[in-house]
Amino acid sequence: MTGPKVVLVGPMGVGKTTVGELLAARLGVSFRDTDADIVAAQGREISDIFVDEGEEHFRALEKAAVAAALVEHDGILALGGGAVLDASTRALLAEHPVACLLMDVEEAVRRTGLNQARPLLAVNPRKQWRELMESRRPLYAEVARVVVPTDDRTPDEVAQAVLDALELKEA
Ligand code: S3P
Repeated sequence: MTGPKVVLVGPMGVGKTTVGELLAARLGVSFRDTDADIVAAQGREISDIFVDEGEEHFRALEKAAVAAALVEHDGILALGGGAVLDASTRALLAEHPVACLLMDVEEAVRRTGLNQARPLLAVNPRKQWRELMESRRPLYAEVARVVVPTDDRTPDEVAQAVLDALELKEA
């Protein structure tokens, strides 16, 4: 089947967009991000969707956005950090070359800080990170064909590690 050359999953702030754009440039394909698809389709920011309609509504939009992008896109695709919470999304991902980017909790707190644009981290980010990672780690492991640690690596090094792990050649 056709579909994305690489699907990037992993927690918020791990660098899916930065690394995804690098991978797209190196492979000569385009980059797509399901968070950006949702913002474009809804005409509003994700934090506003969370506040106004709640997380459940956002997850329904996300599930549909991921399913559409997996069919339509043949470049590099990055998913929001919580896309793997949905079981049917995880089942769809089994068919695709999924790379999970990971970082440790201290690195996560440092990279994302108190980020208003990330509604799940608005209060007590360290505790929330720990809980998020504990609950999501098995889900990332379930969908990932390869897991790439990003601690102490530049975005270029992470992109190279993804290419190596998935045995993809540059254009
Ligand atoms: C979320 C991650 C965000 C965005 C939303 C929820 C999550 O995407 O989808 O704020 O549940 O981890 P990024 O991982 O692109 O920041």
